[in-house]
Amino acid sequence: MLTLALSKGRIYDEAVALLGRIGIQPTVDPGKSRKLIIPTNRDGLQLLIIRATDVPTYVEYGAADLGVAGKDVLVEYDSNGLYEPLDLGIARCRLMTAGKPGEPTLRGGRLRVATKYVNAAHRYFAGRGIQADIIKLYGSMELAPLVGLADCIVDVVDTGNTLKANGLEPKELIMDISSRLILNKAAMKMKHAEVTGFIAELRQALAQSP
Ligand code: ADP
Ligand code: PRP
Ligand code: MG
Repeated sequence: MLTLALSKGRIYDEAVALLGRIGIQPTVDPGKSRKLIIPTNRDGLQLLIIRATDVPTYVEYGAADLGVAGKDVLVEYDSNGLYEPLDLGIARCRLMTAGKPGEPTLRGGRLRVATKYVNAAHRYFAGRGIQADIIKLYGSMELAPLVGLADCIVDVVDTGNTLKANGLEPKELIMDISSRLILNKAAMKMKHAEVTGFIAELRQALAQSP
């Protein structure tokens, strides 16, 4: 039995569409059910429904063999216990700095940066020789510059609508983000045939994408 960890929301919807292309369908809709272990029509595969930031943890500890996680989450988790065999190309967005119009984020002087992406933000500003005090938040980062908590934010941006709705603008691109298939190194050894077979199926489906 292979176990694949997924988060609800955009990753779930896009990942299930991809699984559908290799004939795999969940037997329960996690949007309607409170179940956290979801069987599929394939006897050898079940899904675990967990928070996006918890996916690398379940996979690293071997509680899930495989997982789907955003590159933003993987950069923050920063482990070398995971393999990342496939870029699934789903949940695409950009990790960016953002702030008020006319206020540069790459400037001298101490900069206060609000973000849930503490590692990525720290590396980004340190790499540019900018002194940044990073303030850890868990969501609604766009609020921070509006109420004087921070000079700017680091967050993922897709359409830019959230920034715009709050009178902010995107500034610098830190990295392009998409979701990756991740794999427990032990599962790769213990369940080699099943895991490599599953990866090969997904890889083929991705290669046939329009
Ligand atoms: P969370 O509850 O942790 O914010 P999400 O479902 O919003 O979970 O995000 C899961 C992943 O999807 C993120 O780690 C990121 O890679 C990607 N993502 C986040 N926001 C967006 C967005 N607005 N558009 C596209 N992809 C996004
Ligand atoms: C994400 C992100 C931004 C928004 C960007 O939030 O944290 O707020 O999407 O997307 P946009 O550029 O298309 O507006 P999300 O919708 O995931 O809300 P949450 O993580 O705070 O629940
Ligand atoms: Mg989100």
